[in-house]
Amino acid sequence: MARLHGIWGYPYIDLEPFLAPVPFEEIHEEICLGLTQVDVSCTGGSLKWMQVVAPAVADDPYADYMLTISKFDRAQFEAFVSLADDPSLFDPDRRAEYSFGDETDHPLNERQILYMKYRYGVYFPWKVVYHFVENQRWEDKNQGAGKSIPVEAERIFPKTVALLRSLPFVEIGRCLIFGLEANDHAPLHQDTAPGSIEQVEHCMTICPAGNKRFYLTDDDQEERVDVASRIYWFNDMDWHGVEPDPYFRYSIRIDGVFEPEFVARLRRKLCS
Ligand SMILES: [Fe+2]
Repeated sequence: MARLHGIWGYPYIDLEPFLAPVPFEEIHEEICLGLTQVDVSCTGGSLKWMQVVAPAVADDPYADYMLTISKFDRAQFEAFVSLADDPSLFDPDRRAEYSFGDETDHPLNERQILYMKYRYGVYFPWKVVYHFVENQRWEDKNQGAGKSIPVEAERIFPKTVALLRSLPFVEIGRCLIFGLEANDHAPLHQDTAPGSIEQVEHCMTICPAGNKRFYLTDDDQEERVDVASRIYWFNDMDWHGVEPDPYFRYSIRIDGVFEPEFVARLRRKLCS
């Protein structure tokens, strides 16, 4: 039977006991208020094309935008790129050469996201995304060099930013709110390919409302662990997803490098 990769023999690590008390209610109120005042984006609509979803998800009926775009004929492609910020960048005769969206050179703008939803029924799992620290590529998500929290975030989310700065990271390479609209789910996927890196990278997920049904499964989807903690570190080589619920849910994901003392404290407590 396959097993979860986990961390140090645990399916995930509940970090709440190792951190100063977090004012979850205040943070939750600030985030919900703040999300009404900032521009948010969508993500996750090309996980199938990225080949990071579980086999059962690859065959589910939810449409993926890059799989859809890759089958466009010339007219369909022209309609799609007419919505780009600069349509002249794209030659319809070379349409097979372009990639669009998350982690590509051609992120979708809001018009293109809406068009892919309305015209082709594309499913974007996370429709409310806001970055406190933005990464350029997946590979730099744990490196903080040259990155900072924007002034807007400090102004709109002061308590949340103070919380982020108080966490035991020596650097943060990516920090964002992943919000799921009511009834939406996050498809079962892996962020990191198993075996592609030696050590589990450091990350924290904070769910102030504690109402997101995040779960982990092994390769065979025989072992399943529901994560009840409001602050946790999980191994994103494990399959993970979020169940649908009839209300909006979100979490804050922080990727970076933990303070060595924090890692040592976790190890002392958990690995003895
Ligand atoms: Fe993920």
